[in-house]
Amino acid sequence: MSNRQISSYHLTPLNQLTHPLTIMTTNHLSRIGTPLSPSATKVLFLGAGELGKEVVIALQRLGVEVIAVDRYADAPGMQVAHRSHVITMTDPVALRAVIEAERPDLVVPEIEAIATSVLADIEREKIAEVIPTARAAQLTMNREGIRRLAAEELGLPTSKYVFANSLEELQAAIDGGIGFPCIVKPVMSSSGKGQSLLRGQQDVQTAWDYALKSGRVKEARVIVEGFVDFEYEITQLTVRAIGESGNVETFFCEPIGHVQVSGDYVESWQPQIMSPVALERARDMAKKVTTALGGRGIFGVELFIKGDDVWFSEVSPRPHDTGLVTLATQRQSEFELHARAILGLPVNTELRRPGASAVIYGGLAEKGIAFEGVAKALAVPESDIRLFGKPESFLKRRMGVAVCNADDTDEARRRAKLAASLVKPVKG
Ligand SMILES: Nc1ncnc2c1ncn2[C@@H]1O[C@H](COP(=O)(O)OP(=O)(O)OP(=O)(O)O)[C@@H](O)[C@H]1O
Ligand SMILES: [Mg+2]
Repeated sequence: MSNRQISSYHLTPLNQLTHPLTIMTTNHLSRIGTPLSPSATKVLFLGAGELGKEVVIALQRLGVEVIAVDRYADAPGMQVAHRSHVITMTDPVALRAVIEAERPDLVVPEIEAIATSVLADIEREKIAEVIPTARAAQLTMNREGIRRLAAEELGLPTSKYVFANSLEELQAAIDGGIGFPCIVKPVMSSSGKGQSLLRGQQDVQTAWDYALKSGRVKEARVIVEGFVDFEYEITQLTVRAIGESGNVETFFCEPIGHVQVSGDYVESWQPQIMSPVALERARDMAKKVTTALGGRGIFGVELFIKGDDVWFSEVSPRPHDTGLVTLATQRQSEFELHARAILGLPVNTELRRPGASAVIYGGLAEKGIAFEGVAKALAVPESDIRLFGKPESFLKRRMGVAVCNADDTDEARRRAKLAASLVKPVKG
């Protein structure tokens, strides 16, 4: 990487900067510097949750300087980064200021709720490279952007859908062909927030009110989707990384099966066995949508499967929560794959051994909780756990995960659920 020193820098840094500022001037990185020195390769995370934390650790191992940004102090990723900043990431002024102060080589969005116009600006002005691209962050932060791209531009099969701005429009969409059962989701929301399954007319008003109350942005816009009666759902982790050709190529992990409760994942396993036709279709769709989003990095492509039929649901241009299982199953976890891909390094998506993950929930609403039963959990054969170190627990907050291996995914799921159940959150 060729770095350009900036000598005239007038903005007040948000933190104690101890070395000169750099701008990356090549398309991808060709060397890694020394952290906290002028040669440092710097990566700034926007969002520093449990997924970011693992990518930060992977980057630390490669000698990268990492800056973690989130809306609250002591977020999991901050605890393993070189430094951190607490800002409102939807505030464009604050976001721009932190990027200008840190001048990272790469900006890595870890969540959707970001002022993405700033990402577009810094990409255009070549202040930093946005992972995978500013456009990907913009399109995937809103269900409408990614759905229209997938269904209308790329022609991928999806559920039936209509967008609605009012209760009347929602009703008209249902009457006009979506029918019951259907699912209503705020266009700006994630982790199942504001989502309802509507079984009949009696659910329409409640679903509208709930979507309005829970959307990330106080905009009255929802997507109403026809219910897809799938057999199972998968995450097709897809990596865009520099291949042997020296250009960006597409690499696939083995499919991950998962169970969702109220729009949140509770357990996942890998590999999910699929028919050869369904697998080929899934990968074809994953390749199309990730190619359209561009850039380098890992993507979690969510798909619904029934027999040989595959429907595209959505895609995250970053590691996926169901992919926590890869900490146990793959030669390189999805976090290591992301770290390598964004740095322009080669990746290996090979499965090492079947495995499963099960979520450890907070179970209580307290700050500074403790966990009992860790020793028992780790006595389960081929088990491992991660405790994320979140400063505050809520009843349904994901505080940790158990990951286990076994000869097959059925046994791995049993072990992971057992290990997770043995970890008991208690008052600190
Ligand atoms: N049209 C649909 N038909 C059937 N089930 C659906 C449909 N849409 C969503 N679901 C179910 O609800 C889950 C959550 O939906 P979706 O992924 O759109 O929400 P989300 O808020 O983005 O969740 P997350 O952030 O956890 O991925 C899906 O994984 C699936 O189990
Ligand atoms: Mg989803």
